[in-house]
Amino acid sequence: MSGVNEIRKTFLDYFATEGHAPVASGPLVPRNDPTLMFTSAGMVQFKTLFTGVEKRAYATATTAQKCLRAGGKHNDLDNVGYTARHLTFFEMLGNFSFGDYFKERAIELAWNLVTKHFDIPASRLLVTVYIDDDEAADLWKKIAGFSDRRIIRIASSDNFWAAGETGPCGPCSELFFDQGESVFGGPPGSADEDGDRFLEFWNLVFMQYDQIAPGDRRDLPRPSIDTGMGLERMSALLQGVQSVFETDLFRALIRASVEASGVPAEGAALASHRVIADHLRASSFLVAEGVLPGNEGRGYVLRRIMRRAMRHAQLIGAKEPLMHRLVPARARDGRRLP
Ligand code: ALA
Repeated sequence: MSGVNEIRKTFLDYFATEGHAPVASGPLVPRNDPTLMFTSAGMVQFKTLFTGVEKRAYATATTAQKCLRAGGKHNDLDNVGYTARHLTFFEMLGNFSFGDYFKERAIELAWNLVTKHFDIPASRLLVTVYIDDDEAADLWKKIAGFSDRRIIRIASSDNFWAAGETGPCGPCSELFFDQGESVFGGPPGSADEDGDRFLEFWNLVFMQYDQIAPGDRRDLPRPSIDTGMGLERMSALLQGVQSVFETDLFRALIRASVEASGVPAEGAALASHRVIADHLRASSFLVAEGVLPGNEGRGYVLRRIMRRAMRHAQLIGAKEPLMHRLVPARARDGRRLP
């Protein structure tokens, strides 16, 4: 079992060894990008590289990107606390190709990392591809040895990724882990797909288009790759727990919330402690980037996040303000939380 820090490092080291430039996370509030309220994915800081507007010294890169999905196109705020996998703030691990490699190497790299470095049994995995993407389906057969049964074709927007209404976009192939029959849920594309049994943990986007405006989609100069793995989801999977809130990182935050409130994380209070732990991260990182609670735009999103956390603190009976006391929370062994 690995801690969150080791898992992040394994990912970044692996892609660095495979020739990718390690690049620091971009800011949570994107610069010079009026189309987005917050950075919602690793590709946001690289949009101009995909479109060819900008050139840098590297053609492939890897990052652990701070992300927020609490406003705009991607918004998971109301789910947090009530599913095993949704967070407003999370880290997205990614590898990127700006006109360098495309589908085959992206799938090979992903398969190798997941099965040989993270040692996830192939028998627990299945993937999706965009409905007419025969090329990706054939590559999964060749590289992973999957039969058609484990390659699910999806037609909806779930398998086509874009950060916003405009910008680089393309069809995806997502990797899912089967947590077993004891967890409710069905495979992607089934009626019960929203259950937690089949955990989506990595999205490989085959970047091919630039959406200029509604109805105006053009080819990118060169096919590219954008991937996103949820660090917290991968940690849950590797630590053998069924919820991101049971990983080492969140256990430490929930412990701090339990100690500060004096209320155990059980029964109805469990969801509240989870909300507090998630929203604590989101609000701390937003404030650290200069966003302050306000009545509009980003400030309003922050205000909603903070208000939701405070409501849950009240629900569990906290009489005094709680959130600010949790900001310095550390892991049991004194390590700073990532
Ligand atoms: N940009 C892709 C996503 O966020 C990888 O799912």
